[in-house]
Amino acid sequence: MTEPRLRVGIAGAVRGGGFIAGLRAEHERAELVAVYDPIPEAGQAFAAANEVEHVCANFDELLDRVDLVILCSPQQHHTPQAIAALGRGIHVLSEVPAAVSLEQASALVGAVRHSTAQYMMSENYGYLRENLVVREMVREGAFGDLYYGEGEYLHEMKTWHVTPSGDKTWRHYWQVGRDGVTYPTHSLGPLLQWFDDRVVSVSCVGTGRHTDPEHELQDTTILLARTVKGRLLKLRFDLLSNRPELYAYYSIQGTEGAYEAARTIDSSPVVYLNGRSEYGVWEPLEKFADLYLPMRYKQQPAAEGGHWGSDVWPIRDFIESIVTGRTPEIDVYAALDMTLPGLLSEYSIAQGGAWIHVPNPRFFTGGIGVDPSREAPLA
Ligand SMILES: NC(=O)c1ccc[n+]([C@@H]2O[C@H](COP(=O)([O-])OP(=O)(O)OC[C@H]3O[C@@H](n4cnc5c(N)ncnc54)[C@H](O)[C@@H]3O)[C@@H](O)[C@H]2O)c1
Repeated sequence: MTEPRLRVGIAGAVRGGGFIAGLRAEHERAELVAVYDPIPEAGQAFAAANEVEHVCANFDELLDRVDLVILCSPQQHHTPQAIAALGRGIHVLSEVPAAVSLEQASALVGAVRHSTAQYMMSENYGYLRENLVVREMVREGAFGDLYYGEGEYLHEMKTWHVTPSGDKTWRHYWQVGRDGVTYPTHSLGPLLQWFDDRVVSVSCVGTGRHTDPEHELQDTTILLARTVKGRLLKLRFDLLSNRPELYAYYSIQGTEGAYEAARTIDSSPVVYLNGRSEYGVWEPLEKFADLYLPMRYKQQPAAEGGHWGSDVWPIRDFIESIVTGRTPEIDVYAALDMTLPGLLSEYSIAQGGAWIHVPNPRFFTGGIGVDPSREAPLA
């Protein structure tokens, strides 16, 4: 007997479009049946364009109709919506970041622990083709022991902070109305996957406000992060400076080699492998792609998904986890490992770059004592 298809719903009709190609590829196991957006015309247009049966009047109605919900709402809604869904046993694929405060992060952990459903954060940048290749090269030890990594998210988004009629969007407060690294997961996610590590402390400083000083966010902020294994990571974050975008830059250094992503459209990703590459000469990463790109990710052409093909994979891997009963790789703890350093960067930058401890979400009490249930967080 074949299993019934998972009924999928999308909350948020803009970013929701990024999941269509992945859902199409999973049509034998999942079906997009409902959409909710507080702007009714946005929900209707999305439903018409993607042949979605139900346009829901509110989030509760969306949950009535689905087994799995994809949260594409503005970031401050991710945790509350995830908690509501998990409480009803509905699987949650949440857009990034997982939470916007430590309170939300703790509550999210509690909700996941108490739910029968699965939770995954949809950090897609780890699925960029070159990042998948690098990941396999790291796993096979091509770079030796990694000790330093960099990630940059430089994305001038000034026109996204207010609507054409002058109203402030959610980004005005949640992304540029706070200071630090307010959108960290695209830079940090792949690095943590490659390093197989977790950040334990952060120090964040900024350049000051020059381009668009009405915002609390400084033009460029720099985050230094120390990991459990003692490795050093550096993130550069910039949503305001006048320059073309560069939001998928990474660099790693290990004892046996290095990787440098492309910095501009005129360059391409390169590696240097000690003893394998000609001494002192970079080689194109592409030379290693056939050998290292895992078979699973060769199946779907990059052109079929947004963000250079990465958008198709989070939903596909999440469906695989649900169907096989395996915990997703970017579960609530991995999601918060990618999210919390950004939240703590705000405390650091407010204290002139002081090193701030980043808690391990595995030890969050998740509401115990507030809502008595289990004896201990990990019980
Ligand atoms: N992973 C990625 O590459 C990527 C790319 C873009 C955006 N995002 C994330 O996706 C989310 C949405 O971003 P966006 O660019 O679509 O924003 P947007 O402002 O363009 O669109 C947000 C949409 O959500 C709707 N909305 C508002 N409140 C809602 C609610 N409570 N429930 C459901 N829908 C609601 C709005 O009406 C609007 O249609 C953000 O959290 C953002 O961080 C991720």
